[in-house]
Amino acid sequence: MESHLLKAFLIFFCLLGTCYGDVLFSSLSHTLVVTASPNQGQVLNAGEDSITVTWGLNQSFPTGTDELYKEVKVNLCYAPISQVDRAWRKTVDNLGKDKTCQFTIVNKPYERNQSIEWIINKDVPTATYFVRAYAYNSAGEEVAYDQTADGKKSSNLFEIQAISGRHLSLDIASVCFSAFSLLSLFGFFLAEKSKRRQVKN
Ligand SMILES: *[C@@H]1O[C@H](CO)[C@@H](O)[C@H](O)[C@H]1NC(C)=O
Ligand SMILES: *[C@@H]1O[C@H](CO)[C@@H](O)[C@H](O)[C@H]1NC(C)=O
Repeated sequence: MESHLLKAFLIFFCLLGTCYGDVLFSSLSHTLVVTASPNQGQVLNAGEDSITVTWGLNQSFPTGTDELYKEVKVNLCYAPISQVDRAWRKTVDNLGKDKTCQFTIVNKPYERNQSIEWIINKDVPTATYFVRAYAYNSAGEEVAYDQTADGKKSSNLFEIQAISGRHLSLDIASVCFSAFSLLSLFGFFLAEKSKRRQVKN
C-alpha cells in the first residue's frame, strides 16, 4: 500500500517536471576552473572576434575529484542585466529549464587542462555575457561547474555586439559617405567651373 502511494507520488512529481533526472544548479560542486580571454567590460563583435577559453579541475581539489567527469561543455551565458524582462533567457535552478546559457562554445570529452579559441557565432545577439563550464557524468548529468563571473554574476562580464546592428550602422555610414562624396564631387565641379569663369574674365 505504502509503495503504491510512493509510486503515485513519484509519478505526480515527474508530471510536474521535477523528475529526479533533473539537476539543480545549486547542487553542483564548484570544482572546475574556467577562464575566458575577454576583459571586464570589453566589447566583442559577433562573427569576427574570438574568445579563448581554458578549463580544467581546480588544482585545490585532489586528483580523483574528477574521476566521474566524462564530458565538458563550455557555454556563453546571459548576464542578469540582459535577462531583465526576457523570460526566454530566464535563470532557473533546475538546469533542464534554465535558459541562462544558450550558446555552446565547446562540448568534448573531459580532460584536466584544455583550451580553445572560439570565433563568436554570427547568431549571437547583442547582450552582456559571461562564460560557464559544466562537467557531465556518464549519465549525461551536470555534476560540476565554474563560471568567469562572480557568484552574483555582476562582475567580470563582457559585451558582444550582434552582427545585424553593426551592419546597419555600417550601411548608414556608407550612405553618409556616398552622399558626402557626391556633394564634394559636386562642390569640386562647381569650384572648377567658377575658377574657369574667373580665368576667362
Ligand atoms: C579553487 O577552489 C578553492 C577552494 O574552493 C578556491 O578558494 C579557489 O578560489 C579556487 N580557484 C580558482 C582558480 O577558482
Ligand atoms: C595547462 O596547460 C598550459 C599549457 O597548455 C600550462 O601553461 C598550464 O600551466 C596548465 N595548467 C595546469 C593547471 O596544469
